[in-house]
Amino acid sequence: MNDVLKTLMDHRSYRKYSPRPVEPEKLQLMIRAAQAAPSWVNGQQVTIIAVTNKERKQQLSVLSGNQKHVADAPVFLVFCLDFYRAKLAGELEGQPFEAARDVDALLVGATDAGIALAYSTAAAESLGLGIIPIGGIRRNTAEVIELLQLPEYVFPVAGLCVGYPDEELPKKPRLPLEAVYHEERYHPDLKGHIVEYNTAFREYLGTVGLTERDWSATVAHFYALNPQYGDSGRTLPQQGFTCDNLKD
Ligand SMILES: Cc1cc2nc3c(=O)[nH]c(=O)nc-3n(C[C@H](O)[C@H](O)[C@H](O)COP(=O)(O)O)c2cc1C
Repeated sequence: MNDVLKTLMDHRSYRKYSPRPVEPEKLQLMIRAAQAAPSWVNGQQVTIIAVTNKERKQQLSVLSGNQKHVADAPVFLVFCLDFYRAKLAGELEGQPFEAARDVDALLVGATDAGIALAYSTAAAESLGLGIIPIGGIRRNTAEVIELLQLPEYVFPVAGLCVGYPDEELPKKPRLPLEAVYHEERYHPDLKGHIVEYNTAFREYLGTVGLTERDWSATVAHFYALNPQYGDSGRTLPQQGFTCDNLKD
């Protein structure tokens, strides 16, 4: 296995960080790696905002659902989907900007932001840093948009804690390959694979000292109780994503 694959396969998310600062050169490499990623029509629909100020990290920690690691990690990156530059391009070219009327814009922006986050993650891990993505950033997006002064057509997709880990963790097991990979067509008979994974997942929880619970119970509970995770239903239209051409 080459070094890139070793880095990718050795991933784990860390929730405890040492106060050791992240070297600016390493942070810059993470951002450059994100910028090197592919993007839809080369529109580069991503912006990354680095927050290192203690007070602002504390605010974001609370807004993300009181996640302590957001305040403790030396750097907190916010990955935003961003069509603001596309709108400016339209102004420069005397063209209207209509993309945000289409719900597909959200898929485009979220995909670009996700790829960028993955590239930054791989870069960080290859440099000896630890990370954890933070979807909690979408719990209170009205306040996050205000705090980060996001202009129209920009929306926070995920955060990323970055720092030197202060804990050792085993790797979290994944679903059997057959559950996530199909050849030629989708094969929906997957319950057996889920039941098989429940056993591996329970064992993992036991080794890290957590209450043993089936993966299916965890996921079912989350999606039964979180029909709407955050407030994006209100804030996306405020940021200009009207998505009003669904019937066209
Ligand atoms: C987009 C995204 C958002 C996430 N948000 C959170 C979060 O808000 N809080 C948290 O503790 N973990 C969060 N995670 C981490 C996942 O829980 C973690 O990746 C998963 O349990 C697998 O564990 P591993 O990354 O250690 O392999 C997030 C992961 C992703 C990809």
